[in-house]
Amino acid sequence: MRGMIGLMALMLTYSVALAPAADPAAAPNTVNTFNRLMTNKLQRNLPPMEDGIHDPANEGTAMLQRPKDAFGTMAPSNGGNYVNWVESLKKGSINPRYNKDDPTEEAVVFDLDIVREVKGTMPDVVYPHDRHTQWLDCSNCHPDIFIPEKGKNQISMAQIIMGQKCGVCHGKVAFPVSECRLCHSKTKK
Ligand code: HEC
Ligand code: HEC
Ligand code: HEC
Repeated sequence: MRGMIGLMALMLTYSVALAPAADPAAAPNTVNTFNRLMTNKLQRNLPPMEDGIHDPANEGTAMLQRPKDAFGTMAPSNGGNYVNWVESLKKGSINPRYNKDDPTEEAVVFDLDIVREVKGTMPDVVYPHDRHTQWLDCSNCHPDIFIPEKGKNQISMAQIIMGQKCGVCHGKVAFPVSECRLCHSKTKK
């Protein structure tokens, strides 16, 4: 429990230090901004003209669909951009191309769960290959982020919060670190 409280304090420190300024032009909020998906609720899913990612001077920006309209029919979640992407893909609410140049190419889904035991009271982490390889290629992770061998990689929560390991994606383009239970899903005996 102490570890968890320490972690929460760490996360609070980071979110205070990194909270984007009110004026997005002053502190550009790019897609790769550290823990972008942990900003407060009012700053998420802004229309493209206001999101600090798209160029408001480009008239094409005004023609883009607003996330709030696009996400309206998708399965909801409690964090990040409030879309449960895993569920939305399963239900067919979205049908992303696996290869942008080839509409017929299908993902090669790899079904292998990796369990990482966690010391202390937090449930163990289950890393599911299947829900990643529906969208990602092996080379998105192997070998640069993770050596493909169970136990060969040192992973800690601090690294993840700093945007390394799982944090290369989680908090930027996938659900954020605040959703502890999605990763820490295996209750200890
Ligand atoms: C999103 C990141 C990610 C993607 C994409 C990914 N992997 Fe992995 N892979 C991991 C992680 C994390 C581990 C666990 C490493 C550890 O325990 O130290 C792992 C472990 C492995 C292992 C070792 C298993 C064992 O028991 O030792 C193999 C083999 C592997 N991956 C193959 C693949 C293949 C093949 C693909 C593509 C079809 C793939 N991975 C896609 C993250 C990924
Ligand atoms: C290369 C990018 C990438 C990396 C690295 C990565 N993930 Fe993911 N992860 C995703 C994406 C994309 C999704 C699907 C979208 C979402 O759920 O937000 C996902 C989904 C998941 C899910 C499924 C959640 C559900 O709703 O069922 C779990 C669990 C998960 N990731 C855990 C991990 C863990 C643990 C690590 C590190 C060992 C990791 N991921 C590393 C991109 C990544
Ligand atoms: C994206 C997946 C993911 C999310 C979300 C996540 N964790 Fe973790 N967590 C991990 C992984 C992977 C490890 C490393 C496990 C290991 O030792 O191999 C870890 C380790 C830990 C540890 C062990 C000590 C340490 O610092 O490494 C604690 C405690 C912990 N997490 C707490 C939390 C809490 C609390 C939350 C929510 C605020 C959370 N985690 C959210 C993936 C995640």
